[in-house]
Amino acid sequence: MSIQTDLQNCIEDMIDDSRGILAADESSPTIAKRFASIGAESTEEMRRQYRSLLLSTDGLGEYICGVILFEETLAQSTNNGQSLPQLAWSNRIVPGIKVDKGLGDLPGAPGDKITFGLDGLAERLVGYKEQGARFAKWRELYPITSHNPTPLGLSANAEMLARYAAQCQALGVVPIVEPEVLMDGEHDINRCHVVTEKVLRSVFEALARHRVQLELMILKPNMVLSGKSCPQQAGTDEVAERTLQVLKRTVPAAVPSINFLSGGMTPEQATENLNSLNQGQAPWQLSTSYGRALQEPALKAWGGSSNNGAACQAALLKRARLNSLARQGKYDSSME
Ligand code: 13P
Repeated sequence: MSIQTDLQNCIEDMIDDSRGILAADESSPTIAKRFASIGAESTEEMRRQYRSLLLSTDGLGEYICGVILFEETLAQSTNNGQSLPQLAWSNRIVPGIKVDKGLGDLPGAPGDKITFGLDGLAERLVGYKEQGARFAKWRELYPITSHNPTPLGLSANAEMLARYAAQCQALGVVPIVEPEVLMDGEHDINRCHVVTEKVLRSVFEALARHRVQLELMILKPNMVLSGKSCPQQAGTDEVAERTLQVLKRTVPAAVPSINFLSGGMTPEQATENLNSLNQGQAPWQLSTSYGRALQEPALKAWGGSSNNGAACQAALLKRARLNSLARQGKYDSSME
């Protein structure tokens, strides 16, 4: 198959009007934190058990079209010996892979961050594709302070995302482009609005410079929210209105799908906000690429014990189903 056909087929398999993406690509330090919250130790075997459990949830493919995996998971198998990427695809869930290598400080721009992992990316992508990954994800992170992100932070991070995306497309892997403006801080929603608009504008300028085919990528942005510690918390209607306004100003209609990260919203908030976003008209599909908001209740129900498998899967399926309804604008909080 040609590179272009690989890209096209992946987009077709991942974009429809009722499903979303599950982010299960927590890096080793992040999954260790999540496991610590339920008193479980993060060993390779525990991670395999947990992620096998998630992916073998009966009926998950009705609500989930893609799963982002961590490198280690690509090579893991179920107790019956089926590889986890194959297990996902047997449920019509396209397997993908997080390819960035984490982040550090951006020299010259105090307070800004930059993500690592471009060196050797082409070789890694070829290997991941052989292991079954058809799309990739790369995250750049933008903390908000009174002076961050700086102009240098904006341009350097956008350049990284564009180089990654162009590299993925050159090898027939669909890029998920994730610029995440962090929720942490006391800033109000207006500040998040202004910053998110600048971030997305700089990202799409860089994508154009690097000739990324917009039709063959997915955008994974934050919603426009009040800072977590801001005393004045905007409601769901304002979040949806401002998020749509920013997206309409900055994201070309050629992009087929926008799949939001949950970024620290509660599972219920994340579902409610997605539902509000889907009340209006938009040129793109608006769906999920949630990690915490899809997994939190499932992780708690599991509690690190194989006795709780059924409860864990039921909790995941519930959030996946409610987000699928929200993705169609048909969710109501009474369904919780
Ligand atoms: P959250 O939904 O928990 O923010 O995770 C999404 C993700 O993949 C972050 O890179």
